[in-house]
Amino acid sequence: MSVFSSARLLGKTVLITGASAGIGAATAILFAKAGSNVILCARRADQLKSVADACAAAHKEAGVQAGGKFAAVTLDVADKQQVATLFDRVPADLREVDVLVNNAGFVLGVDKIGEISDADYEAMFQVNVFGLISVTQLLVPRFKAKNAGHVINLGSVAGREAYVGGGIYCATKHAVRSFTGTLLRELVNTNIRVTEIQPGMVETEFSIVRFRGDTSAASKVYDGLQPLVAEDIAEEIVWAAARPPHVNLAEVYVLPVNQASPTISYRGGK
Ligand SMILES: NC(=O)c1ccc[n+]([C@@H]2O[C@H](COP(=O)([O-])OP(=O)(O)OC[C@H]3O[C@@H](n4cnc5c(N)ncnc54)[C@H](OP(=O)(O)O)[C@@H]3O)[C@@H](O)[C@H]2O)c1
Repeated sequence: MSVFSSARLLGKTVLITGASAGIGAATAILFAKAGSNVILCARRADQLKSVADACAAAHKEAGVQAGGKFAAVTLDVADKQQVATLFDRVPADLREVDVLVNNAGFVLGVDKIGEISDADYEAMFQVNVFGLISVTQLLVPRFKAKNAGHVINLGSVAGREAYVGGGIYCATKHAVRSFTGTLLRELVNTNIRVTEIQPGMVETEFSIVRFRGDTSAASKVYDGLQPLVAEDIAEEIVWAAARPPHVNLAEVYVLPVNQASPTISYRGGK
């Protein structure tokens, strides 16, 4: 039996931002297998629909009786109006959210400070920081009202340590770390859990987005080592959500075995 087949996840409703690709998509599918319902949010409607279909197929194959409701809801987390009206677009039977996974995020470029375009740094802050804050602000009052819930934020190794060429991305992920730390402290007198997942290198569309579609530059990031895959991080997220209600995995720092920091890795092992 899989460790993810926890009775604690059966029939729960999970809202995931950035569910159209990478870590968000893998997480949606793993929650589906575990018998949870999933609200999948991202900008690309077609990709979202395919991931929602993959969730339905995974749920069916797992043969689990609970869950099985999947809603694909188009959402740009950087658009405050779209966030404010999010629940108007969520089916009525999925409006009681148990777990929020704030996963939408990205990096653009490796420009050094002084050379970063206004458009790039504003876009990264709009999504990685302001988007995560607005979705959290929407859900936390709902969680407080029922004294239950779980906020799982995607931080990064870049939120623990800065690196050259990561000026804005590192700043956004340090902001996520600090915001998550405050939330954990503010909710200490409740049953609401707060988790930050801090991955190292994960091979997804992340580096392709960073290098603006240049797939060969993106694949060089992983030269000579075995990176994590989206499913590795999905397992950590679902594991955190499946802990007993009195257990809060506050931080989960996950690296490939041959990575020790943003800049220290061993590349002779692949
Ligand atoms: N990959 C890594 O090495 C790594 C390491 C540490 C942390 N992380 C973090 O993990 C999270 C997921 O990254 P990933 O590796 O899975 O990247 P990915 O494959 O590029 O997926 C990013 C997801 O975010 C969504 N997104 C981007 N902008 C959005 C917006 N404005 N509104 C809503 N959704 C938006 C994208 O969907 P649409 O384009 O359809 O909107 C996509 O579903 C990010 O927060 C990232 O910073 C990644």
